[in-house]
Amino acid sequence: MLKAVILIGGPQKGTRFRPLSLDIPKPLFPVAGLPIIQHHIEACLSVKELKEIFIIGFYPVTQIQQFVNDMQLQYDIPIKYLQEFTALGTAGCLFHFRDQIRLGSPDAFFVMNGDVCADFCLNDLYQFHKDRSAEAFITIMSTEATKQQSLNYGCLVLDKKSNEVTHYVEKPSSYVSTLINCGVYVFSLKIFNIIGETFMSKQEDYYKSNGNGSKDAGYIQLERDILTPLAGTGKLFAFPVSNWWSQLKTASSAIYANRHYLELYRTKYPERLAGGRQSEQCKIIPDVHIDDSAQIHPTAVIGPNVSIGPGVIIGAGVRIRESIILDAAVIEERSLILHSIIGRNSKVGKWARVEGTPCDPDPNKPFAKMENPRLFNIDGRLNPSITILGCSVSVPSETILLNSIVLPNKELSKSIKNEIIL
Ligand code: GTP
Repeated sequence: MLKAVILIGGPQKGTRFRPLSLDIPKPLFPVAGLPIIQHHIEACLSVKELKEIFIIGFYPVTQIQQFVNDMQLQYDIPIKYLQEFTALGTAGCLFHFRDQIRLGSPDAFFVMNGDVCADFCLNDLYQFHKDRSAEAFITIMSTEATKQQSLNYGCLVLDKKSNEVTHYVEKPSSYVSTLINCGVYVFSLKIFNIIGETFMSKQEDYYKSNGNGSKDAGYIQLERDILTPLAGTGKLFAFPVSNWWSQLKTASSAIYANRHYLELYRTKYPERLAGGRQSEQCKIIPDVHIDDSAQIHPTAVIGPNVSIGPGVIIGAGVRIRESIILDAAVIEERSLILHSIIGRNSKVGKWARVEGTPCDPDPNKPFAKMENPRLFNIDGRLNPSITILGCSVSVPSETILLNSIVLPNKELSKSIKNEIIL
């Protein structure tokens, strides 16, 4: 029997995802028509031995419980939200809830960062771990990055024969390895002994310093406090993959993730892609997901790589490409939406042009990092590349919005370019 844990952090995390995370917790932001972590849940369901899923974070229960209830209705597996009283770190939170995780003695459990998106190959990852279950405490799913990209991730040095991790450095200041940690793992239960030792030594330090340490004594980071010391002990392994994987840190990375999840639907869930009913309604250029309750004018042209949420209304002659249109947004006739995210309840008037500049990495490469240096000017000011409208924004007719971010509840009165409207 196996279990899975999805780490979702809390309201203080995911700040780079603003303004999209201002009205919805980031893990529940819809990508390709599903909340980000529903893709994790679906990946878990592909593992037949997996019997329970925990979502661990420090969001208030009120913000997550409805999602959990919906998932319970939709899928035939127990899913529970475990709320930390404060941020305990990526390993501290696992230790805090160790009794629930260990209950029923699972053979192992998956741990998945809630802010990654991927073609998760959990069955292969588990098989790899199982083959080494005598030695392995943790197996890390890993992928190749470029030298420059690798500095922003956890870097692994592997013994090529055994796949043992001999060295692990989180966000190194100089080049270590192009093999990086994907934030998806299999843990054996014996890892709790190691986390427990770290917990005890942090407690001792905390009390020795009379509680003057900056963090709570229970705060334990998986990457720095556990993986780094475990490397080279024969207990840490890596499973390199070439499937699509990426992080969802910035709002613009949602457009990239959207494209890839839509592409995955082609083989896994073709019924989720527009076709059938919608293709009779308007012209679709694949891949496109349109919620059944959206109303699209027959002369609109949608795609490629577009997701349209519930209750959206799209007028005559509208053209949308490489974009996400969230619930109940209205796009009036003859407008153009390109490389943009339109927030829920927002309205774009007639003959308007809402456009971002694509900054995505090459989607055909096995791994590509999202953060784009062009996002920042030399003086460090933010220079947005895709256009993002927060919720309930109103864009007047016959205006142009180029490479801009608009915070929620704004009524624009003129065209804007390279601006952030606060
Ligand atoms: P950054 O680039 O600084 O964001 O680091 P990172 O990519 O290594 O991410 P980080 O380790 O901060 O978070 C990885 C995942 O764990 C994310 O999905 C976070 O939301 C989640 N996470 C981070 N800290 C905590 C925590 O204290 N508790 C819980 N439950 N989740 C956390």
